[in-house]
Parts: sequence; C-alpha cells; structure tokens
Amino acid sequence: MIEFATTTTNRILPWIVLLSLLVSVKGYAQDSEDFHPPSIIPDRIVLSLTQYPTSEIGVNWRTSSTVTGSSVEIAKADASPNLAEGVRSYPADYSGFRTEFDTAHHHGVIIKELNSDTQYMYRVGDTTSMAWSEWSHFRTAKREGGFSFLYLGDAQNDLKSMWSRAIRGAYSKRPDTDFIFHAGDLVDAANSDAEWGDWFYAGGWIHNSVPTLACTGNHEYARRQDGSYDLSEFWQRTFSFPTNGPKGLDETTFYIDYQNTRFIALNTQAFLTDPTAAERQTRWLKSTLKNHEQKWTIVLMHHPIYSSKSGRDNLQMREAFLPLFEKHNVDLVLQGHDHTYARGTSEPMAQGQNVLDGPMFVVSVSGPKMYDLSLEEWMARGAADVQLYQELDVGPTSIAFKAYLVTGELYDAFELHKMNDGRKIFVDQTPEDQPELLEVPVRMRDKLTGEDWKRYKDRFAKYKQRKKNN
Ligand SMILES: [Fe+2]
Repeated sequence: MIEFATTTTNRILPWIVLLSLLVSVKGYAQDSEDFHPPSIIPDRIVLSLTQYPTSEIGVNWRTSSTVTGSSVEIAKADASPNLAEGVRSYPADYSGFRTEFDTAHHHGVIIKELNSDTQYMYRVGDTTSMAWSEWSHFRTAKREGGFSFLYLGDAQNDLKSMWSRAIRGAYSKRPDTDFIFHAGDLVDAANSDAEWGDWFYAGGWIHNSVPTLACTGNHEYARRQDGSYDLSEFWQRTFSFPTNGPKGLDETTFYIDYQNTRFIALNTQAFLTDPTAAERQTRWLKSTLKNHEQKWTIVLMHHPIYSSKSGRDNLQMREAFLPLFEKHNVDLVLQGHDHTYARGTSEPMAQGQNVLDGPMFVVSVSGPKMYDLSLEEWMARGAADVQLYQELDVGPTSIAFKAYLVTGELYDAFELHKMNDGRKIFVDQTPEDQPELLEVPVRMRDKLTGEDWKRYKDRFAKYKQRKKNN
C-alpha cells in the first residue's frame, strides 16, 4: 500500500509541479475540456460603469473568432415589441488572444449620449451574420435622489459551484440595485478562460442587466518568470471601466462620480508589486481625494488597510494611503482579499460613542475560500467561514449598510449620517439575534500548528474581553 502510494506520488509529482508552474507563469490551469466554448452567438455580455454613469454605459461580450463584425443596437425601453423606430446602432471594437483552449473575440464599446434615469433595451451582435443576443434592459444613473449598490468580496474559487448562490442571492435580495461592485479576485487564475466562463455562468443575465464596477485583486495578475506581474488578458477585454487614473493603470485605478459620491478604485496589487505604480497611485490618490466636492467618498480596493486574516498586514500600503484617507475624510473603504468578514475603525469606538472621524473599513468575502480571523483591535464585528453579500443605500445625508449571509439572514448593519462639519454619526444596527460567527471550523483548525492554535485562542479571549468591556 505504502509502496503503491509512493510510486503513485513519484509518478504524479512532476505533473503537479508542471501544473503549478503553468498556473503561476501563464496565469491559468490547463483544463482538459472547454465547458464554455465561444460560438457566433454573443455570450459573456456585461455592462460596465464608466466615468459618466448618467449618460454612458460600457458594453462588452464574446464570440468565436470567426465573428469579425460587432455592434450594439439600443433603444429606449418600450413595452411594445415593435422596435422599428428609435433603434440606434453603435459599432464596437474587438480583439482576441489565445487562451488555454482557443482564440475568441472580445467585443466592446462605450455607448454615449444617453439620458439619465432612463430605461434602455439593447442587444449585441453582428450585422453581417445576423447572430444577435437577446434584448436586455438596463437603467442609466439618476442625477440625484439617492442610489443603491451591492458589494461582493472575493469570488475567486468554485465560481459555478459555490459563488452562484452569492451573486444570485444578492440580486434576488435587491433586484432594483443600481450596480454591483466586486472587490477583486473575481477568479483564481488570471487568464483562465474556464474560470471566467464560470464567473459568467454564475451571474448569467445579471451581468448584462445590472452595471458592474470592480477593482483588481492579486488574482487578476499573472506572474511572469522574472517575478513581475501582468494584468489579466481578460480584464480590459471584459470590462470598460474609466481610464482617468494614473499612467499604466487604465481601468484598474480610476474614479467615478456617481450622484453625490466619489468612488475611487485603487489597484493594490500594482501598489504592492511595482514601486513606480505605487508612487503614481499615491500621488494620483492625493489629488483625486482633494479635488472634488461630492458629499461622500467611498474607496474600493482589494488588499485591506487593516487585515482581518491572521498573520497578514499591508503596512507599506497603509502608511501611504491611510493618512490621505483620514486627511480627506474618506467615509467608507470596501475591501476583500482576507476571506473573512470584518467591520471596524482605526480607533475602536467605545460603547456609546457615536461620532466617527475617520473611515469605516469593511472586508468581505462572497466565494467559498475561507480563512481564520485576525480578531485585531480595529474589528468591531467579524465572521469566519461564511459567504456574504452586502447592500448599500446612499442618500443625501446618510449611508445604510447591510451585510447578509448568502442564505439571506441579516448579519451586520449600520448607518452613517453626515454632519455639517463632515464628521459622521455612526448608528450601530447589528442584529441582536445574530451571534458573531468567530469560531475556527474544525477542518481549518486541523491545519493550524499547535502554536497557531494557541495564538488564535489568545486573540479570541482578548477579543471577547474587549467586547465585554465595551
Ligand atoms: Fe486576494
């Protein structure tokens, strides 16, 4: 038995090494079968928020490489199916690249001069072959009056199998949401066509009906042999995000003024791996935070300012970004990467304290990869071993935040009310009947060393004591 196991291990070991090398260098795992082959019929149709969400929408889709025509047809939505009048046609661009399976064409265009707060219907396809998608609806952003969005942490793994329930649960909870924000690590292997196929399978027509906003995580980057990183070939072909960021960081570092809110998307992977990108991004962030008069500022980033997983700390990034967030009164920082849920502030708030000077930080996870909690000082509420989604309502003077387990139960909630001096009143709405899910599950505990387990128990005891004292 032992001999068999050893022989088998010897036999498969080179393949495991080769496979992991392929994943790290090429950014994808060689899948044996293409479960999402492209065809002449458009698929992977997705709407992106652009810099001007009241008058524009980004549209991208995929076809087989035989399709060389691409256009979008769009009209104001009408309950009548008679579309003879009012349909405008927009030519799109396409480009291809070789994936682990084949070369597909990725098409995209930004539709401009739309009316705000207007429902449109559109389809994508090829005017030559007449292979079209179905007609879908979407709504452009309102100029004022409040808006809502959904926020999903890392999807990353088992996208079809386990992430489907997160994106579908989120949409079902809030089908009238204005857009969906993904906090990076949408996939595990940056250039895996199989994984991007699963991401689209999970979201289905949600992706082509509700605009997407996303920032890049470390898993949207493929590592080269020399140790540097390349952005996923899919990113700019799949989305049409703004290009108003620093040089070299198009569609990964940008801002969008959405009604009364400035959203700033940062590229933390570029910050952490490329000193030039870090310097440019910090300089750009400074001017982008300074030069706006929006009521709210929400920062979107993958690696968190404060980690919620034990043993992690992005100190260099925190030293660069946090003073700027505090100086320019950032309200909320929505993050991922640590595969746990955590919400808190730089200075832990005492019981009864309700005035918040700096930002509220949130880390969340929507996919099935799970880590243990850091239970550090900054955390006011956490959760381990659960998939979640979040719903945010942004109004003229308040933001309401709700985190749900993917099974639909409310797990965490708070409101921020902005005062005239810019500070915020924090209203804790944590559901009383929902205990904190802090335990390390047995399957994860088994992987910890004795020393790690002891450290976790110490942290746990301290966290509980701090909560009691508060
Ligand atoms: Fe990550």
